[in-house]
Amino acid sequence: MAKPSVQHIVRTDLDHVWHPMTQHKGLDKRPLMVVERAYGSTIVDAEGREYLDAMAGLWCVNVGYGRREIAEAVYQQMLDLPYYPHLQINRPAAELADKLADLTGGRLRHVYFVNSGTEANEAAMKLARQYQRLVRPNEPRYKFIGRQLAYHGTSLATLAVGGLPERKRRFGPYGDGFVHVPPPYPYRCPFGLEGVASELAAARALEQAIRNEGPETVAAVIMEPIQSGVGVLIPSPEYWQAVQDICRRYGVLLILDEVINGFGRTGMWFAYQHYGLEPDMITVAKGITSGYQPLGAVLATEDVFAAFLGEPDEGREAVQVNTWGGHAAACAAGLKNLEIMEREDLPGNAARVGAHLLSGLDTLRELPWVGDVRGKGLLAAVELVSDKEAKTPLDGARMAAVIRGCKERGVIVGRSSGTGAGLGNCITISPPLVLTAAEADRIVDTLREVLTNLS
Ligand SMILES: Cc1ncc(COP(=O)(O)O)c(C=O)c1O
Repeated sequence: MAKPSVQHIVRTDLDHVWHPMTQHKGLDKRPLMVVERAYGSTIVDAEGREYLDAMAGLWCVNVGYGRREIAEAVYQQMLDLPYYPHLQINRPAAELADKLADLTGGRLRHVYFVNSGTEANEAAMKLARQYQRLVRPNEPRYKFIGRQLAYHGTSLATLAVGGLPERKRRFGPYGDGFVHVPPPYPYRCPFGLEGVASELAAARALEQAIRNEGPETVAAVIMEPIQSGVGVLIPSPEYWQAVQDICRRYGVLLILDEVINGFGRTGMWFAYQHYGLEPDMITVAKGITSGYQPLGAVLATEDVFAAFLGEPDEGREAVQVNTWGGHAAACAAGLKNLEIMEREDLPGNAARVGAHLLSGLDTLRELPWVGDVRGKGLLAAVELVSDKEAKTPLDGARMAAVIRGCKERGVIVGRSSGTGAGLGNCITISPPLVLTAAEADRIVDTLREVLTNLS
């Protein structure tokens, strides 16, 4: 049977599909792209135009597109057993959990599977509350502390602990017990400090928040090691040591969101490993399957897991079940994906090509619009300003023109969003980890050309 025409697909989509983050009024005049195929770091639209996908979809296609091996692993698993509730055992989930534990050096050796980053964070928060109730039954530890401008997912609790005003505004009120502290952001320091001093002030604000709330009421802190969406904030080791010490001091669990940071993105398997941190739980999704199947997970320490052990009638077990949790075909995709990453040393490639990309992006600092450049591995941001001295964030219309200009030249870059209050002025770059040095140069050259022509 012949494929329906592109026009037919666009019409059908307009008639029936409700797209996320998209104003549908007038969409027939400015149709969305029909993405048909992809390979490596390149996507191809229905007209055969090719684009370098410098965002790896939504920060997630880590092994790149077109991996036949993953498709075959999923196909075979679907024939054997597509799915069975994770109240019993399936082979790929067990093997994937073992592999994940290995990648954390055995520290985070208990894996709870879900289907997305949102669900991983939501599950970690619930596990944190249950843990605190089991371990400290006389303390009402239900509060969570997150960071301003952070994103942890779409559900009400993950939105509540996140700090993106434009993502949250329409859906409140949120429950009690979600507290926000400043991120480590020396370029825009709310304390008027620079460098590590600025970050340590942000860490002290965390301690102050715990004391203000009453430590006996705080269940957990949840943060990304490197805060991605706001514009890739890369803290110093001193910041992270201070945050971890504060959590320990007050009996607060440390949950690190590795949904974007994880699986080689920053040049190591997990970003917390750059800092030698010992989180109580990490949450993962995105790169765990590189988008070939939906999957997420919470990885927990022995200490956290052990708190849930007891006799059957004690009710200490984790009280949550997801229909698709531990989905066999998704876990088969995850296993093959990690095998490829290991075989091709993609974390190593991210470190090498990422350093090359960053040195290229650094040369853009000479342009009048470039306020700051930050990056680690293949996770980078270029912060654009209209006045370098005043650090005035570039306005929305010019930001849109930069994104458009790059796309017209065949390169898809991202943009920080949801930040409200005049921010949203960072170009974000998070390409597949198979990116070559030549492709990295193309990203830099394209940005240079677009920014040079910007008026
Ligand atoms: C840091 C972070 N955590 C969690 C999520 C939510 O993941 P998902 O979209 O898979 O629910 C995202 C999504 O972009 C994210 O960037």
